[in-house]
Amino acid sequence: MTEIEQIDRLREELHLHNYRYYILNSPTVSDQEFDHLMCELQELEARHPEHYDGNSPSLRVGSDINKDFRQVEHHYPMLSLGNTYSEAEVADFYERIRKSLNEDFEICCEMKFDGTSISLIYEDGKLVQAVTRGDGVRGDDVTDNVKTIRSIPLVLHGEGYPTRFEIRGEILMPWTVFERLNSEREQREEPLFANPRNAASGTLKLQNSAVVAERKLDAYLYYLLGPELPTDGHYENMQEAARWGFKVSDTMRKANNLQEVMDFIHYWDVERKKLPVATDGIVLKVNSLRQQRHLGYTAKSPRWAIAYKFQAEQALTRLLKVTYQVGRTGIVTPVANLQPVQLSGTVVRRASLHNADIIASLDLHVGDSVYVEKGGEIIPKITGVDTSLRPTDSEPIGFISVCPECGSPLVRYEDEAAHYCTNDTSCPPQIKGRIEHFISRRAMNIEGLGPETVDQFFQEGLIHDVADLYALKIEDICQLDRMGEKSATNILQGIERSKEVPFERVLFALGIRFVGETVAKKLVKAFRNIDTLASASFEALTAIDEIGEKIAQSILAYFSNEQNQELVGRLRTSGVCMEASAEMGNSCTDRLSGQSIVISGVFAHHSRDEYKALIERHGGKNAGSISRKTSFILAGDNMGPSKLEKAKSLCIPIVSEDDFLQMIQED
Ligand code: IVH
Repeated sequence: MTEIEQIDRLREELHLHNYRYYILNSPTVSDQEFDHLMCELQELEARHPEHYDGNSPSLRVGSDINKDFRQVEHHYPMLSLGNTYSEAEVADFYERIRKSLNEDFEICCEMKFDGTSISLIYEDGKLVQAVTRGDGVRGDDVTDNVKTIRSIPLVLHGEGYPTRFEIRGEILMPWTVFERLNSEREQREEPLFANPRNAASGTLKLQNSAVVAERKLDAYLYYLLGPELPTDGHYENMQEAARWGFKVSDTMRKANNLQEVMDFIHYWDVERKKLPVATDGIVLKVNSLRQQRHLGYTAKSPRWAIAYKFQAEQALTRLLKVTYQVGRTGIVTPVANLQPVQLSGTVVRRASLHNADIIASLDLHVGDSVYVEKGGEIIPKITGVDTSLRPTDSEPIGFISVCPECGSPLVRYEDEAAHYCTNDTSCPPQIKGRIEHFISRRAMNIEGLGPETVDQFFQEGLIHDVADLYALKIEDICQLDRMGEKSATNILQGIERSKEVPFERVLFALGIRFVGETVAKKLVKAFRNIDTLASASFEALTAIDEIGEKIAQSILAYFSNEQNQELVGRLRTSGVCMEASAEMGNSCTDRLSGQSIVISGVFAHHSRDEYKALIERHGGKNAGSISRKTSFILAGDNMGPSKLEKAKSLCIPIVSEDDFLQMIQED
C-alpha cells in the first residue's frame, strides 16, 4: 500500500471510529488505539501536504491560526420560534393547527436544547460550511471551529443523502465539561461563564480552534432543509439523518393528539434534569412538510412550530439580611442572605443582588418572602417578592453609605450602577485584592503564593502593599503557621523570578482601573517606560488608539496620587521591570513583511505569545502549520520530529531564537 493509500484508509477508519464513539456511544477501539491511529495519520499527512483534505479527521484537533470570521448569508433565514409558557397556550396552538389544516396531522415533540444554533452545509456528503445564526439573515463562518466538534460528521455515512443540503442544530457544552471549565477558570482567576449556553457560544467564537477542540463541545441536530429531502415527514427525515452520522436526540417522539403532547411535556419537565446537556423547553413541530408549507410563516417565525418554555425552578424563602462585599477595585456588592432552601438539587443560602438599583426595583424589605431562581445561572437570583407575606413592621433595605470594611464613605459615579469605597489605600479587602491581582498568573505570576497566603501575610502585618512582597525575608515567613522552610523558599524564589516579568505585565499587575492586559500593552508600546507614562498628558494618552477619556482619567488619577508614586518607586528600587524590553514594544517595522512564519519548540527569551506579537509587529504572519508557503520556522528547543522532517522535506529554513532576535533588531 502506498502512503497516499494509507492516508485514505486511516482517514476512513478514523471517521468510522469517531462515529461509533460520539454518535453510537459504542467504540470498538480503545482511546489509546484511536490516538495511535490519529498520530499515524498526522505523520503521514505531514509527509504529503499535497494530499490535503479539508475534512480529514486530523482537523479535529484544531489549529492555532488566528482568523477573523467571515460573514456569510444564510440560504434560508434562521428564524426563531414563538414562545409559550403555559399549557393553555400549547392547547391554543394545537387548536389553531387543527382548524387551519382541517385534516389529520402529527406533532413531532422535541427537547428545546439551550445552546447556540448552527447551520451546517453538506455537499456530496462532506461538511463544507458551518455558520452561526448571527442576525438570522447572515452569520459568522465558524467552519474550522465546528470541525473540532467530534459529534458533527465531516464525512457522511450510508447513502440517500441529498447532494446538497443544510442541517441545523444546537451546539452545546455538556454540564460536566462546563463545570470542569469553570473550576479551571476559577483557579486561574479568570471570569466564570454564567451558564453552558454562554460557554458554548463563547467557545464557538474563539479565534483559536485548538482551544475550541479542548473545550469538548457537543451538538444535536434538529432541522433538515433542502429542495430534495428523503421523505415528507420531519421526524422520518431526522431518523434518516441519524443514519448518515448526525447526532439526533432519541428523545424525539410523534404525538397524535393533544394529550400525547401534554404527556411528553410532563415527562420531560422532570426527566430533562438527567440529560447531559441543558434544555429550556419543548419544541412542537407539525410533522408533515407539506402541511408545514400550507401553514407557512409569520415575519419572525414558522406557524407550524412553537416552543414551550419550562418554568425556571423557583423556591420561596425568607430574606434574613443583606450583607456587602468589597472587591479589589472597591466595588461594593450587596448579597442577600437567605433562609437555606433546596433548589435544583443544591441548598441555596445566598443570592446576588448586584447593585442598589436592583434592591430598589424589587422594593426589598428585611424579612421579606422572596422568590429565588436558578435559571441556568450558577449564582441564584431573586426574581420577586411576595408582599402579602411581608412582616408589618419591616423596614425597606436602603443601600449602606459607608464601607463595611473600613468605614470610609461610599460614592456612586455618574452613569454607573455600582457603589465604590474610595479608600483604596487602606481598605483591607482592596489591599488584599490588589495583592492577589498582582501575583496572579497573567500578571506577575508569582508561584507558591495564593489568596490564603496573602491573607496570612496581611494578618501578620508582613505586607501592606505589593512592594512589601519584595522586602520579605525567609525568617519572617518561616516562623508562620503551616509554613515550612521549603514553601518559604519557593515563595521567595517566585517573587525573585517575577522581576523578569516584562513591563506590560507589570503595568497590568498594578491594577490601575480600566487598564487590562490589552490597554497595558498599548501603553507600553507608546510610552516605553513608567516615567514617560506617569508624566503623559491627557491629550497624549487619548491620542493612542483605543484609549478613551475614561481610561486616560484613570491613569492620570493613579499617577497623581502620592502613595502610588511612592509604591512605583519602591517596586522599581526592588528591581521590578519598569521599561519596555529591547524588542517588545518596539515600534513596527516591515522587516518580516510578506513572510509566513511557523513557531515551534520551547524558547528561552520570550513566550510563544510574545514571539507571535513580535512577528506581527514586524509585518510578518504567524502560521500554525508548515506548508510550501512557509518562509521559515522560528525554532526553539525540542522542535517536534515530524515538523522537523516536514521542514526538511520542503526545504524550509530553520531560524534559531537568537538569529530571529538579531533579524528584527533595529540598526
Ligand atoms: S427548530 C424554524 N428545534 O430554539 C424553526 N429549534 O427560538 C427552527 N432550538 O434558534 C428551529 N432546540 O436555536 C428547533 N429541537 C429544536 C430546538 C430549537 C433548540 C433553538 C434554536 C432556535 C431557537 C428558536
